[in-house]
Amino acid sequence: MKIAFASSEMIPFAKTGGLADVCGTLPKELAKLGNEVKVFMPKYYEVNEYEYGHHYDSLIGELKISLNGFMHSVHVFYGKLPNSKVDAYFVHYPPFFHRKKLYTSDWDEDERFILFSKAVIQIMQKLGWSPDILHTNDWQTGLIPVLLREVYGWDSLFHKTKTVFTIHNIGYQGRFSLESYKRAELPKHLYENGGVLVHENDSNFLKCAILYSDVINTVSETYAKELLTPEYGAGMVGYLWHRTEDYYGIINGVDYNIWNPEVDKYIPHKFSANDLSGKAKNKKYLLDKVGLPFNSDIPLIGIVTRLVSQKGVDIIVEALPELLNLKIQIILLGSGEKHFEEIFQQAALFAPKKLAAFFGYSEELAHLIEAGSDIFLMPSQYEPCGLNQIYSLKYGTVPVVRKTGGLADTVQDWNEYNAYGEDTGTGFSFYEYSASALLQSVKRAINDFKNELVWRKIQSNGMSKDYSWKNSAKEYMALYHRALSK
Ligand code: ADP
Ligand code: GLC
Repeated sequence: MKIAFASSEMIPFAKTGGLADVCGTLPKELAKLGNEVKVFMPKYYEVNEYEYGHHYDSLIGELKISLNGFMHSVHVFYGKLPNSKVDAYFVHYPPFFHRKKLYTSDWDEDERFILFSKAVIQIMQKLGWSPDILHTNDWQTGLIPVLLREVYGWDSLFHKTKTVFTIHNIGYQGRFSLESYKRAELPKHLYENGGVLVHENDSNFLKCAILYSDVINTVSETYAKELLTPEYGAGMVGYLWHRTEDYYGIINGVDYNIWNPEVDKYIPHKFSANDLSGKAKNKKYLLDKVGLPFNSDIPLIGIVTRLVSQKGVDIIVEALPELLNLKIQIILLGSGEKHFEEIFQQAALFAPKKLAAFFGYSEELAHLIEAGSDIFLMPSQYEPCGLNQIYSLKYGTVPVVRKTGGLADTVQDWNEYNAYGEDTGTGFSFYEYSASALLQSVKRAINDFKNELVWRKIQSNGMSKDYSWKNSAKEYMALYHRALSK
């Protein structure tokens, strides 16, 4: 099968969250299954062609991309996704993509991703390459299915192409004024006088993808169900209900070449389920590094997160005074909203032996926290899939999570009444979104931490789980076949 895969971020090139992990890994797995895969992303400032051995694609040369009647001259860099056969195309347009961050609140944010979306289609035209499946991800590529049909519909190259859209997070919809559709040069009837693409008097790129893609999915079964309810659906419920026949949930896989304590290049002491001695050494290393005292009897709670409400940061903050009264230590790595940073900064000053907080983005520290912590806290308000709790399972770092979305699908609550039975659980979870429910679960976890036998069992239950892409990539293949049969 020929598969085109478009995303606004992909590891190792550019990342703000799990979207990059998934979009840099799934295409490689699809290629391993014998498919011909090409990926497309913007060439941001930090995507350095020398570092990755990419080169200017002179075969493609100049693309002329029209936005609101104005032509933009765009170029393309070409390379491979590392260690794979996957062709990678990088849309090079410095006025749009050389910004301080991947995503901005600049006035032309819509145009940046309209241009990218058109470039993806025009690159395939230049290559004369006709994909069976065009797989797009989140709002940044949400216009592609509409553009393909309504603007490039004349091109027979795409007449057999089926589109698949994955919702990684419904909280981000690409909502702008209706002008955006004009800039994209979509036919007026789609957005004037209450045309189908209008959402509450605005443009909405996510809605476009939901309406126009042949098949839609999200990244866990539970989140797929949650999105059909007003509480989680973020205004998209009606559109999704309309598409339920073509709507699925597929849990993300993870890359165990990167997130695996046996091979992790960032951690000084490798370890495995058979020999956890390295884990204790990593804990000591981590605590030394961040300046907290080491005591093997005190459970260390790790948090790695975007500092936004989605991740349950509000209830962590609310629970913090009581958490800091418990016999625990906490290391937090986060980036996001400033007011959350300030709270954790203050709290770390107040409890310097118990809490260390780091802000910004650090791949190394993220790995060290996964490896060195005893418990991983992820009390998300909503969580489409979540990768950190899956990484935690592999590192014997017992997750404490809120039972929602992918967290509910990947963490089984520990059954203390059947501790030595079969399938006894891999972590601790709670349902109610509140500081008190969070505290209760943390207390359950630290209580069981004291019992070494029990703790080992919870750890080994988690470490034996397999969330590699093997299964999920096959599910995506089945999804593509469903799209093709439509
Ligand atoms: P989301 O994509 O919603 O942020 P996920 O759990 O799917 O949540 O993925 C988050 C990814 O981003 C993980 O790979 C995690 O390690 C990484 N990450 C999040 N915050 C940071 C940070 N401050 N520094 C380094 N990595 C981070
Ligand atoms: C989003 C979600 C996260 C998911 C990731 C990859 O960022 O918030 O839950 O794991 O996408 O699909």
